[in-house]
Amino acid sequence: MSAQTGPPAPALPATLLRSRRLVEPALRKAVQELHPAPRLIASHAFGWCDEDGTPTDDPGSKGIRQALAVLGAEAVGAAGEVAVPAAVAIELVHTFSLVHDDIMDGDERRRHRASSWKAFGTGPAVLAGDALFALAVRTLAEVPGERGGEALRQLSVTLGELVHGQADDLQFETRPWTGPGAVDLAEYRAMADRKTGSLLASAMTLGAVLAGASPEAVAALSRAMRQWGVAFQGLDDLLGIWGDPRTTGKPVHSDLLRRKKTLPVLAAMSLDPAVGPRLAGLLGEAGPAGEDGARRAAELVEAAGGREYALREARRLLDAARAELCAAPLAPAAVDELVALSQALLRHAG
Ligand code: IPE
Ligand code: MG
Ligand code: MG
Repeated sequence: MSAQTGPPAPALPATLLRSRRLVEPALRKAVQELHPAPRLIASHAFGWCDEDGTPTDDPGSKGIRQALAVLGAEAVGAAGEVAVPAAVAIELVHTFSLVHDDIMDGDERRRHRASSWKAFGTGPAVLAGDALFALAVRTLAEVPGERGGEALRQLSVTLGELVHGQADDLQFETRPWTGPGAVDLAEYRAMADRKTGSLLASAMTLGAVLAGASPEAVAALSRAMRQWGVAFQGLDDLLGIWGDPRTTGKPVHSDLLRRKKTLPVLAAMSLDPAVGPRLAGLLGEAGPAGEDGARRAAELVEAAGGREYALREARRLLDAARAELCAAPLAPAAVDELVALSQALLRHAG
């Protein structure tokens, strides 16, 4: 199936193109080693081929995480090439997590194409995710020396955090809209930090670790990227409600239909106490929610200021991350590229 037509994708920042050129050959080579069945599903998920294996030139993923790995090495004064195994491992983990996430979230579209489970069936998609996970671990395990071992240890911590965050996200779906069991903003932030912040932080720090960075530099990069992670999760939540599916390549309103406790929704609930009970009325606490209720819920959340809050929060977190990066002993050129990248991604959502 070909990509859905829509407005032309905005040009990718030069940093993303540069790191893609550096990393993609190694990523394709790694995926090539998989069993043909999971290899086809993985190649489709990366945007490299159609469901029948015909090569495509779809844009696929923006490749933010591979760029962070490359910049992580450069930020500590090494050549970006050093980070390639980290970049490959992180892109493999990211795609594995999305292949499984679309099963958990019941989403039928991703990156302008059918999600893996929709195109190939749930069982094969679960296995393809497992295959990508295993390949990521192997990629780092094959890096010789202590740096490879340290990177692998850090990746294993990240994988646990990601699972923790996803488990919270799923449990939040069944929590009530009102009363003592309702999800609050602090719980959301902790969940987003784990499900998204941990992998973004790992992308940078694994690149830095393979480059032999000091623990101080690694800690500063990690703190900044965790702030990015929470910021971008909030923007992703925003796009999931008000984004144009022709641009995002993902379904609209699916988070509301599943009663996801996303940032704009929780912000609206905390800004206006009348919102929680009204969401309970529109979306219910159990059973299927309807598209009409989801549309009206989106209007309610926007009117209460939830959309604006998510944008403001993202700007605040990205400013804090920039301050963190500028104060750390890092290569200024890499910091400049990071700041420019975060601004480009913010513009994309705003
Ligand atoms: C996905 O979170 C995070 C992970 C897979 C770890 P979401 O479910 O919020 O992301 P999208 O909107 O499907 O990309
Ligand atoms: Mg999802
Ligand atoms: Mg999810």
